[in-house]
Amino acid sequence: MKRIIFPLVAIPMLFSLAEAKVFKAYNGDVDFNHSKHMGMYPCTECHEGPPRPFGIDKAKAHKLCIGCHTKEGVGPTRHCSGCHGNKSKDD
Ligand code: HEC
Ligand code: HEC
Ligand code: HEC
Repeated sequence: MKRIIFPLVAIPMLFSLAEAKVFKAYNGDVDFNHSKHMGMYPCTECHEGPPRPFGIDKAKAHKLCIGCHTKEGVGPTRHCSGCHGNKSKDD
C-alpha cells in the first residue's frame, strides 16, 4: 500500500517545489527560487529532519538566508532590496 500512496503525494509536491516561493513581507515580498537552491545544496543544509515547512519567520530567514550568502560570498547580503521586492524573471 505504501508504495502506491507515496508517488501520489510526492508528485504534486515536486510540482509545487518547481515554482519560486514568495515570502510575504511588508517591506517587499521575497522571491525565493527553491528549486535552484535545492539543486546547489543538500536538503539538510536548510531543513533539519524531514524536508517540509519549518515556520519560517524574519529571524529564521535572516539567519538562514543571509548566513549562508555571507559565508559563501554569494547572493544578496547587505542590500535589503536584493531580497525584498525582488522579482524573479518568470513573473
Ligand atoms: C537573503 C535575503 C534577505 C535579505 C538580504 C534581507 N531579508 Fe528581510 N527577510 C527575508 C525573508 C525570506 C523574510 C520573510 C520571512 C517570513 O516569511 O516571515 C524576511 C523578513 C523581513 C521582515 C519582516 C517583514 C514582515 O512582514 O513581517 C523585515 C522587517 C525585514 N525582513 C527587513 C530586512 C531589512 C531591513 C534588510 C536589510 C538590512 C533585510 N530584511 C534583508 C530575506 C531577506
Ligand atoms: C537553501 C535552503 C533550502 C534547501 C537547500 C532546500 N530547501 Fe526546502 N525549503 C526551504 C525554505 C526556506 C522553505 C519554506 C519553509 C517555510 O515555509 O517554513 C522550504 C520548503 C520546502 C517544502 C515545503 C513545501 C513548500 O513548497 O513550501 C518542501 C517539501 C521542501 N522544502 C523540500 C526540500 C527538499 C526535498 C530539498 C532537498 C532536495 C530541499 N527542500 C532543499 C529552503 C531550502
Ligand atoms: C546554503 C546556502 C544558501 C542558503 C541557505 C540560501 N541561499 Fe540564496 N543563494 C545561494 C547561492 C550559492 C546563490 C547564488 C546562485 C547563483 O549565483 O547562481 C544564491 C542566490 C540567491 C539569490 C539571487 C537570485 C537567485 O535566485 O540566484 C536570492 C534572491 C536568494 N539567494 C535568496 C535566498 C533566500 C530568500 C534564502 C532563504 C530563504 C536563501 N537565499 C538561502 C545560497 C544560499
